[in-house]
Amino acid sequence: MGSMYMEIYLYIMPHPRVHIRVILLIMDDADAQEREHFQRIVRAFKSYRHQILKKVTEKEGYIKTLPPHHQSFLESYKSHLDKQRVCIEHNAEIIKLIIKDVENMFENVQHDPLNTEDELGNNLLAPDIEKVQSTIRQIVRDWSSSGEHERSQCYGPIINQIELLFPQDQVCAQDINILVPGAGLGRLAYELARRGYACQGNEFSLFMLFASNFVLNKCRGLNSLRVYPWVHSGSNTLLNSDQLRAVTFPDVDPSDLPPRSQFTMAAGDFLEIYTEDGVWDCVATCFFIDCANNIVAFIETIYKILKPGGYWVNLGPLLYHFADQPGELSIEPSYEEVKRIVLGIGFKITVEEMGHSTVYTHNARSMLNYEYQSIFFVAQKPF
Ligand SMILES: C[S@@+](CC[C@H](N)C(=O)[O-])C[C@H]1O[C@@H](n2cnc3c(N)ncnc32)[C@H](O)[C@@H]1O
Repeated sequence: MGSMYMEIYLYIMPHPRVHIRVILLIMDDADAQEREHFQRIVRAFKSYRHQILKKVTEKEGYIKTLPPHHQSFLESYKSHLDKQRVCIEHNAEIIKLIIKDVENMFENVQHDPLNTEDELGNNLLAPDIEKVQSTIRQIVRDWSSSGEHERSQCYGPIINQIELLFPQDQVCAQDINILVPGAGLGRLAYELARRGYACQGNEFSLFMLFASNFVLNKCRGLNSLRVYPWVHSGSNTLLNSDQLRAVTFPDVDPSDLPPRSQFTMAAGDFLEIYTEDGVWDCVATCFFIDCANNIVAFIETIYKILKPGGYWVNLGPLLYHFADQPGELSIEPSYEEVKRIVLGIGFKITVEEMGHSTVYTHNARSMLNYEYQSIFFVAQKPF
C-alpha cells in the first residue's frame, strides 16, 4: 500500500490552551477509513445515553416479570434504579459537551456531518460503549481530586525522577524536550509542562483525544463539572450511595501554565509519527509499554528518538493489551525479558525498582480492586 505522511499543525480553538498537532498517515483509502473511524467514535459517545439507559430499562422490565412478593422486596432497589437514571442523564450532558464541536477539532480535516439517527447507537460495538465509560473514569484519574492518590502513585515517581535528572537550578527547563507517549487525558504531560519543561503528550485514541481536548481547552472553573463514574456497574457495591456518588472536575485550572510554556498534544500512533532520531531529552511512559503488539518496536523507537545521553523514565505493569484479543497478534515477554531487550538495544539502566503499588481508574469503595506491583526504571541512551 503506497503511503505518505501529512503533518497538520493546528489549533483546536481560536485561542487554544493546548496546541494539538495532528499527524495523519495518508494511505490508499486511509482518508475514508479515518473518517469512518472518527464517525464511529462520535457515534459511541452519542449513543451513551440511549445504550446505558436501555440497560436500566431492561432491569426494570425484568423486575416486572418476577413474582409479586419478590417485586415487593425490590421497591427500594427500583427507586435506586430511578436515581441511576438521573446520574446517567447527567453523564450524557457532560458527553454532549465533550463531543460538541469535535467535527472542527482537527482543523483542515473534514468530517461528514454527523447523523443524528446514529444517536440511537444501532450497529455499535459493545467495546466502544465500554470505552466511553472508561473515558469517564479516566477523567477521575487525571483531573479530579479523587484521583490525587492514584496520580501520586503513578505520576509522582516519574515527575520526581525527571526533576532530579533535569534540576531546575541547573538547566533551562524550557530547553528540555519531554515526550509522553500514550498520554491518556494528558495530566502527566500537563504536570511536566507546569514545571516549565517543554512537553508533548502523544495519544492515538479518539476517546482520549476528544476528552483531553475538552478538559484542557474548554473547561473553566475549578470543580465546575461533575460526573458519576461508578453508576455503570452495580457489581461489588456495598452501599447504593457508593454507586451514585459524584466526582467533580477539574481539580486544577488546566490553563494554569507558566507564560511561554510549551505544551502540545500530538494525535497519532507513536510508532508512526516519531521517526526522527535524537530529538528528545526525555521520554516518560506511564502504563504504556504494554500497549504494543510488539514491545520491542516501542523500546527501539524510544531509543532512536532520544538524544544521546537522554533518559527514558518508565512506570507501569505488563498487562499486555493485545494478549488474548481476538484477531490481534501479541507477544508477552516477562519483565526479565523486557530488561534484556532494553539492555540489548543499548540502554543503560540507572534506576530500577520493583513493586510500586499502583492502581488504575480504581473505585476505592468497590469490593473488588486491582493493584499492580509496577516496575519503575530509568534507562539512559549512552552519549
Ligand atoms: C493504559 S493507558 C495509560 C494512559 C496514561 N499514560 C495514564 O497513565 O493514565 C495507555 C494509553 O496509551 C494509548 N496508546 C496505546 N498505544 C498507542 C500508540 N501506539 N500510540 C499512541 N498512543 C497509544 C492508549 O490509547 C491509552 O490511552
